[in-house]
Amino acid sequence: MAPLRRILSRYQIRRRVKELAAQLRADYAQQRPVLVGCLKGGFVFLADLVRQVGVPLQVDFIMVSSYGMGTTSKGEITVLKDVTTDLAGRHVVFVDDIIDSGLTLQRVREHLLSHRPASLRVCALLARESVLAEGAAIDYLGFPVPEGFVVGYGIDYAEDYRQLPDIYVLEGEG
Ligand code: IMP
Ligand code: MG
Repeated sequence: MAPLRRILSRYQIRRRVKELAAQLRADYAQQRPVLVGCLKGGFVFLADLVRQVGVPLQVDFIMVSSYGMGTTSKGEITVLKDVTTDLAGRHVVFVDDIIDSGLTLQRVREHLLSHRPASLRVCALLARESVLAEGAAIDYLGFPVPEGFVVGYGIDYAEDYRQLPDIYVLEGEG
């Protein structure tokens, strides 16, 4: 297994998740939002987030393909599993692990908008500094991260490392 360099501790993550949850609580107090987690990488973040938000909400999941088993994007995105909640007229928050090129976000946004929600916002634990510089529309962001393949806290490399409580960069990967 490749060497790991820790970039975010579980304590830093916990503190930031609480802050994001407080923002969501303020913004969605009366709206019973639907938080749509992106499988699989967003599952730990979503699980921690919903337990901190403290207002009534619903949870659903979407699964999209893009990266296969490696670290290189194929540039195509397919919806492998759609939400089962009727999102029409609902306040939707898409929750993802990491926004890298922003392509997945763009496609998922178009897809979720086709369900005619009343509103759609994006909550990402991590986003590349490069995509932020390009002006990616992320309403709730945990941490900006530089280039380097990130794992842990739900985020995988070829299905490994999801179980790690902290976030690491895989040394020697893209
Ligand atoms: P994008 O379409 O390039 O923005 O890629 C988004 C998706 O690719 C993320 O939701 C992750 O599932 C995956 N991904 C991108 N960068 C990384 C990384 O550094 N580690 C693990 N998964 C990543
Ligand atoms: Mg993802």
